[in-house]
Amino acid sequence: MVDHNRRLLIVGASGFIGQRLAAIAYDGYDVFRADLAEPAKPDEIKMDVTDQASVVNGFDAVRPNAIVMLAAIADIDQCERQPELARAVNVDGAVRVADECARRGVRFVYTSSAAVYDGSRHGYVEEDPPTPLSVYGRTKAQAEVGVMAILPDAIILRPALVLGFSAASRTNAMLNKLADSFRAGQVVRVPDYEYRNPIDADTICHAILCLIELDQTRGIYHIGALDSISRFELVCRLADRLGFARMLVEAQREPLPGRAPRGFDHFLLTRRLSQETGIEMPTCDMVLERCLHAAAQSDTRA
Ligand SMILES: NC(=O)c1ccc[n+]([C@@H]2O[C@H](COP(=O)([O-])OP(=O)(O)OC[C@H]3O[C@@H](n4cnc5c(N)ncnc54)[C@H](OP(=O)(O)O)[C@@H]3O)[C@@H](O)[C@H]2O)c1
Repeated sequence: MVDHNRRLLIVGASGFIGQRLAAIAYDGYDVFRADLAEPAKPDEIKMDVTDQASVVNGFDAVRPNAIVMLAAIADIDQCERQPELARAVNVDGAVRVADECARRGVRFVYTSSAAVYDGSRHGYVEEDPPTPLSVYGRTKAQAEVGVMAILPDAIILRPALVLGFSAASRTNAMLNKLADSFRAGQVVRVPDYEYRNPIDADTICHAILCLIELDQTRGIYHIGALDSISRFELVCRLADRLGFARMLVEAQREPLPGRAPRGFDHFLLTRRLSQETGIEMPTCDMVLERCLHAAAQSDTRA
C-alpha cells in the first residue's frame, strides 16, 4: 500500500532504467516521473536539469522525500562529440539536483558509472581513485565529487553495464537493439576484448530502493555480477537464449576509430553493497536469466 509520505521523484524517468524503476517503485511509493518531455499524465512533470528554475519548480510541485537522479547523456560517443552538453547535464545537472536536495533535506541517489575507471586492471573497490578515459567517464567522476561536496549523505551507485529490455524505443537499453538486429537477420559485431560485470535492470532498481530505505547508507556503492564476461561472450549467450544462431555474432578484435575510448576491464567489486543491504549479487548467467524473465513477464502483462 502506498504511504503518501513516501514521495519518490525519478529524474530521467523515461529512460531505460527510469522506466523500470518507476514500474517497481509504484508498489511502495507515490512515484513522480520527471523528464524533458511535456507531461501527459498526472504523475509526470517536465524538468530540464540544465535549468535552475525548472529544477526548483519540479521540487516545489512534487515535494519529494527521495530523488533518484538518472537523467544523463548516457551515450558515451555522444558525450565525446558534445562535451559541453555532457558537462551541462551530467555534472552541472547532477550537482543542481543534489543542491536542491541538500536545501530541502531530500534523500538523494545518483547513478554514476564504472567509466570513472580506465579498466586497466581487474577489480575495483569503491575507494580506488577515478581514472576516467572518456568525456563521459570524466563527467561522472566530476559529478560524484560535486555531489558529495554538497550532500555528504548522498548515495552514489556505480554500475558497469545495465542489461534489460525496455518497453519504449529510444532508450539506452542494449538488449532491445541486439534482439532487433537478430530478428532482422543482421550480424552484430561486438568487442571480444571488453570485459564487464553487468547487472540487470530489476536488480539495480531493487538496490536503489533498498539503499533509500536504509538509514545508514551513504557514499559510493559498486553494483554488478559476481563474475565478469566479455561483451562478445555475453551477446553469444543472449543469442543462444533467444534462439538465434551464433553466426549472427561476430567478434570485433580492436577498438573502432572515431569512437570514445572505453576501458578494457570494468569489473566492480560489490562486497560493500551486499554487506550493507543484504542483497546477494547474481552471476552473469543469472543476470541474463533475470532480463529474459522480466521481459517475459511484461509480455504476459501487455
Ligand atoms: N544503462 C547502462 O548500462 C548504464 C551503465 C552505467 C551507468 N548508467 C547511468 O544510469 C543513468 C540512467 O541510464 P539509462 O541507461 O536509463 O539512460 P537513458 O535511457 O539514456 O536515460 C536517460 C534519461 O535522461 C533524460 N535526460 C537527458 N537530458 C536531460 C535533461 N537535461 N533534463 C532531464 N532529463 C534529461 C533523457 O531524456 P531524453 O530521452 O528525452 O533525452 C532520458 O530519459 C545514467 O546516469 C547513466 O549514465 C547507465
